[in-house]
Amino acid sequence: MVVVAILAAGRGTRMKSSLPKVLHPLGGFSLVERVLRCVEPLSPSRRMVIVGYQAELVKTALLEIPDLEFVEQTQQLGTGHAIQQLLPHLQGYDGDLLILNGDVPLLRPDTLKNLLQTHKQNQNAATILTAYLPDPKGYGRVFCNGENVVQQIVEDKDCTPAQKQNRRINAGIYCFRWQDLARVLPELQANNAQGEYYLTDAVTQVSPVMAVDVEDSQEILGINDRIQLAGAYEILQRRIKSEWMAAGVTIIEPSSVTIDENVQLEPDVTIEPQTHLRGNTVIKTGCRIGPGCLIENSEIQENVTVKYSVITDSLVASGSRIGPYAHLRGQAQVGMGCRIGNFVELKNTQLGDKTNVAHLSYLGDATTGTKVNIGAGTITANYDGFNKHKTKIGDRTSTGSNSVLVAPLTLGNDVYVAAGSTVTTDVSDDCLVIARPQQVIKPGWVSKQRDAKQQN
Ligand code: UD1
Ligand code: CA
Repeated sequence: MVVVAILAAGRGTRMKSSLPKVLHPLGGFSLVERVLRCVEPLSPSRRMVIVGYQAELVKTALLEIPDLEFVEQTQQLGTGHAIQQLLPHLQGYDGDLLILNGDVPLLRPDTLKNLLQTHKQNQNAATILTAYLPDPKGYGRVFCNGENVVQQIVEDKDCTPAQKQNRRINAGIYCFRWQDLARVLPELQANNAQGEYYLTDAVTQVSPVMAVDVEDSQEILGINDRIQLAGAYEILQRRIKSEWMAAGVTIIEPSSVTIDENVQLEPDVTIEPQTHLRGNTVIKTGCRIGPGCLIENSEIQENVTVKYSVITDSLVASGSRIGPYAHLRGQAQVGMGCRIGNFVELKNTQLGDKTNVAHLSYLGDATTGTKVNIGAGTITANYDGFNKHKTKIGDRTSTGSNSVLVAPLTLGNDVYVAAGSTVTTDVSDDCLVIARPQQVIKPGWVSKQRDAKQQN
């Protein structure tokens, strides 16, 4: 049985932000959400988040995660002081406590499982995660004897020049036998460079304490400033893209592509350069996305191509071609085998299969049947200044270039709209509608004008 505690009360001064550090986003999730996701596979019996700086904001941000407990640390007097706040909440608890820093977002669940296993196997009072870093600056240094038994942890600011040479650092991830920790917590002192109660001091007051090295030291990168935040994003992106490539996705020029964690891709998807996939986007097999696309919270079904386009909260069915320069948003749905061409915007519009909107159109709040052809420059005038209105277009209907469809409007099946028409009333099946001033031709008019001018 394990209880998890996450330290998230600090302000994160070095971020120079009004937003608490742990709420800074990193690839679709805040730092603290990432830590919570990492502990999920351990099925902890309780998850306690220690909040303090802008506690309400942090709580609100995590509102949707069920069964989280929040413990308030009203003054931020150090990591040891933060854990002291758990004492009244864990009275009588006889299991282990896994402590994580809210600003260490790249941890892998397997690393935690390994830590817990070592802890149990050796019946340790505490087991801590350590790493060797090429540049250990800013981290606490861990000193062990030959058997990996921790003797001392010294914060960077408290290190002597000789101690600073030690590259083995404290990752800020600990597993404690709670009863042992609870006994020493009240005795922590703040006589150090920062005048804080250090949790690291508790580590060496229980015994035995063992250090476990993390395999990939990138996992324990702590985020203290925005440079580290950007560094973590790069690591995360490299991880996500490597996993997708291993799973059968081709990414051309990965360095110019970003993919959020929740995105789902299928084998034989090709992602071209300068493409960004965000939120809960799903892309099915055979699709070719990019170059130059931004796709957010959208589903792209099999064998679709999308070039230089933006798609948000929308669905594209299989075999359709989108772009270049299309914009789909607001629950747009494109049927199978459609073609959406350049400078076309679809907003809350549902297109039937094999429908083409090939050039320069805005369709808002519209539905079409199948095999519809929307001529270049067709616009749905869906807004009267107060309300949005719907346009319905039947099967096989064709609109001529530069048609304006003034909603609310229904065009039946097999309707032809003449080019340049402004259609304001419904049109039934099988009709041609011409709604434009009749063309007038005046033969000889030009020369007559010219002659008249010359006589004057
Ligand atoms: C801490 C460790 C250091 C380790 C490093 C790893 C201590 C004393 N030092 O240092 O050995 O190498 O993490 O990243 O623990 N927090 C609170 N309440 C407080 C103070 C901090 O909840 O009163 C939270 C912060 O929000 C943060 C975490 O604890 O999530 C770590 O605090 P931070 O100030 O970043 O500690 P470090 O100096 O990085
Ligand atoms: Ca830190």
